[in-house]
Formats: sequence, C-alpha cells, structure tokens
Amino acid sequence: MILLRTPDDMLAWSKSRQASGKSCGFVPTMGALHDGHMALMRIAREQCDVVVVSIFVNPTQFNQPADFETYPRPESEDLAVCKACGVDAVFMPTAELMYPNGYATMVLPEGVADSMEGASRPGHFAGVATIVTKLFNCVAPDRAYFGEKDFQQLAVVKQLVRDLNLGVHVIPVSTVRDHDGLALSSRNARLSEKERVAAGMLPTILTEAQAMARDGHQSSDVVTHVSTRLRDVAYSRVDYVTIVDGDSLATVDTPGTKSVLAIAVWVGDVRLIDNVSLLGEPLL
Ligand code: PAF
Repeated sequence: MILLRTPDDMLAWSKSRQASGKSCGFVPTMGALHDGHMALMRIAREQCDVVVVSIFVNPTQFNQPADFETYPRPESEDLAVCKACGVDAVFMPTAELMYPNGYATMVLPEGVADSMEGASRPGHFAGVATIVTKLFNCVAPDRAYFGEKDFQQLAVVKQLVRDLNLGVHVIPVSTVRDHDGLALSSRNARLSEKERVAAGMLPTILTEAQAMARDGHQSSDVVTHVSTRLRDVAYSRVDYVTIVDGDSLATVDTPGTKSVLAIAVWVGDVRLIDNVSLLGEPLL
C-alpha cells in the first residue's frame, strides 16, 4: 500500500494507473475509520482492480470550528485499517495543500442540497461538493463508494457528477449498524456512556415510523410521532424530522415506496443523522 501526501503525487500515480488500463474504486473518507468505511472498501475491492482511499478532514464542510477541531484523527490506526482491507493507495493531504493561500474556487450545489443538512448547516454541501470534485480530479476513479447513512450527501454527489459531467459511477452502500441498530459514525466515539445508551433509542423510533407507514398513516402523523419520541430521548435536541422522496428529496404527504424518513438529532454535544426507507425492509 502506497501513502500519497500531495495532490501532485496523487495525480501522477493516477495517471500511470490509468495508463495501465486498471479500473479504480475510490472511497473518500475523513478518517476515524469504522466498519461502515470497511464495508465501502470491501465492495470497492471486489469490484475494481485498484482501490484508493482518501483520508482528509475537510475544513470547508464544517460549519462549527469546534466540530472540525475535535474531529478524531487516528492516523496510524486508519492506515492499518486500509492495509487490512487490501487498499492499494491512501491519499492523505494536508489542508494547506488542498486549500493553499489564495485558494478561491468553490462548487455550490443547489436543488437536493437545499433542505435538511443544507438548511441546518449552511455551506456544508458547498464544502462537500468542492472537496469531492477536487478528490475526483486527483484520483480519477471509475467508481466511487458512498454510505447511505449520509443519504442527502449521496444525492448531492450524484447531482454533482451528473451536472458537471464528472464521469464517475457513484455506488451507494447500505448503512452499517451497531448491535442495537445505531448507525455507525465516527462521531459516535464522542458520546459518553450514558449518551450512547440514549442514542440506542434512535433505531427503535425509526422502526416505529416504518410500522406507522405500513399501517397507512400520513407523513404528518409519522413526523409528529417521531419528533415526540426523539424529544423524550435523554440528552436529546431534535434538529429535523422529515419524510422525503428518495430521488428528488421533496417532502411527501403520503409515504410511498420511495419515501425516506430522515432525522438529525443532537445527543449531548454530538449531532447524529440517520434515515430509513419507510416501506422498505424493517430496520431491526
Ligand atoms: O462523508 C464523508 O466522510 C465526507 O463528507 C467526504 C465525502 C469524505 C467529503 O469530505
């Protein structure tokens, strides 16, 4: 496994890899790798000749400086995970190299980027779209793998690839969940023991929403129920609860087969997001 620390080195490596005719699977990450990231790497390993992982805590997508500063950065553990998953190259640049003095270009997604995370975290998706574009340019992948936990990010990246003709095949990968159903996230490590127990209620509440949708309830009833239940979770503060069409991300009045319930909730100082297909496979 080769470790590349500059965009120029990554570009040069990608050019020779392209010349060799080998297909490339790319897993962009911000590090603090867990089983969810490993699932992305394993699928990339199965589907592509070479696998590249990027590890870069992207400052432009954080709208709270404290969140950026406290984001975990376990570099040597992350490299060991990549090696164990059979990754060929890890791209791990510094912020100074990705955004040097005088850097002045951003990609500004609209449409599917406007609601939910886009509304709660102004500028977040501009940061995501910008760094994903830069990473795609450096790595030149054939396929890129994104987790469904960040369901809106996946929609933004698909829109970005389509609108800017980036020519990368975006592959969604199912959310990996902990023993109690909590979606794996690098942020879970920041929950105290008591907060982690409280967060374990989230999947149960999503399952209740699925049952309500199957019983024919309107979206407004489901949203009211989920909001009330989330507010009762210890240490919690609800950011949003919404039911949207899985493609357009427009809100829907009556849950249908493509409807997704998405939530964002603070548990203590940790902001957690999750989503579930309302009429798909039961979560738990
Ligand atoms: O999902 C993430 O970890 C990040 O948003 C991404 C896609 C690596 C861009 O920084």
